[in-house]
Amino acid sequence: MSNDTVTITDNATGKSADLPRIQGSIGRPTVDVRKLAGSTDLFTYDPGFAATASCKSSITYIDGDQGILLHRGYSIEDLAANSNYLEVCHLLLDGELPNQDEFNEFESIIKNHTMVHENIHRFMSGFRYDAHPMAMLSATVAALASFYHDSIDINDEEHRKITAHRLIAKMPTMASYCFKHMRGQPFMSPKNNLSYSENFLHLMFAVPAGDYVPSPTAVRALETILILHADHEQNASTSTVRLAGSSGANPFASIAAGIACLWGPAHGGANEAVMNMLDDIMDTGATIESTIARAKDKSDPFRLMGFGHRVYKNYDPRAACIQKVCHDLLDELGGDQPLFQLARELEEAVLADDYFKERKLFPNVDFYSGIVLRALNIPMSMFTVMFAMSRTVGWIAHWQEMHNDPEFRIGRPQQIYTGETHRPYPKK
Ligand code: ACO
Repeated sequence: MSNDTVTITDNATGKSADLPRIQGSIGRPTVDVRKLAGSTDLFTYDPGFAATASCKSSITYIDGDQGILLHRGYSIEDLAANSNYLEVCHLLLDGELPNQDEFNEFESIIKNHTMVHENIHRFMSGFRYDAHPMAMLSATVAALASFYHDSIDINDEEHRKITAHRLIAKMPTMASYCFKHMRGQPFMSPKNNLSYSENFLHLMFAVPAGDYVPSPTAVRALETILILHADHEQNASTSTVRLAGSSGANPFASIAAGIACLWGPAHGGANEAVMNMLDDIMDTGATIESTIARAKDKSDPFRLMGFGHRVYKNYDPRAACIQKVCHDLLDELGGDQPLFQLARELEEAVLADDYFKERKLFPNVDFYSGIVLRALNIPMSMFTVMFAMSRTVGWIAHWQEMHNDPEFRIGRPQQIYTGETHRPYPKK
């Protein structure tokens, strides 16, 4: 026994295992259970993987108790205040912030890949008029593999790099085409003289018949949303990308799997739930007081959407970053609009209420991001598409890291079998 190991003894068999203790650069110590089954016949049971580290990663660190989110060591507060989305993409992918020359080169590479093949236009036009944008996006990203089958060798570093660039560059184009298809408007061509966020707003809201110039506050708000959602370590969709990719599946298929996972309401749908709640309050004429009272009532399943977080138990650092952007945007667009006014009053009332203070329930990033997206005129069915667009870089960074990891193996969890034991086939 030593301080570097954890000893597990199975009292039923007397077998024991000295398991290595692993310490990352920060964070809680971890027990390496790989030798457990060999030494004791035991497996570990952890539904939801809440107590299991599935990999080693140097991309993102979260401390939920302290409200800390770091990308490659930089705090999300610093990045949101000082950086831009493409710089954060470079950081996540390459591990370092780019200097000016490196940034210019990276931006020009991304801009070189913003267009999609004409047949992607046709492919996307082929969806039913009322197709859900997430169905369109996940299918289109998977379909990209058929356009780039000459560069999807996962063992080729250059192929992995160009795929990363293509996905980051084309995601705004494809996301906007989901919206344009829904609106029945022509697909716009990307404009490479615009920044990443300006170009996305142009792709979404410009029409061939007129000019469109987004306000700098809207551009900054979008840039902040993109930065805040760029990565969040081993969440469900990122773990899905890793698991899908672990079989050697091509990167487009792996990212499409991540998009499918994100589509679930328990993952990407929280900001939509916030807007539904605010709309409900408006429609039913409920007051802030009655809404808060319902949230406190244990016999009522109603919860205040956009408050509390599974990981962040102190505050959500991303919420603090987006709060000001949200208020600036609402001020510019007219803070007296009833829904936005309601959101502000609800936020103030909750922050002043002891029930929420005692339980450390603060507004999370989704409370503000839904409001910001609504203020940017982005319809609710596009909210998760926006999330997918920003998270693409995180997914790719993890996918690349997995393929560079010498300990990487195909993901294949165990199970506890609870079904029938072996029985004979009944005689006929
Ligand atoms: N409204 C009212 N009460 C709440 C809320 C809320 N939004 N969230 C938690 N509580 C209360 C619970 O009733 C519980 O009270 P009790 O101690 O008197 O029983 C206490 O706060 C602790 O709640 P838990 O459910 O144990 O907290 P948990 O960490 O399991 O849940 C969750 C976190 C699911 C995010 C929850 O806060 C919630 O449902 N929030 C609303 C949905 C939302 O905004 N989700 C986006 C977050 S995205 C994410 O977490 C991955």
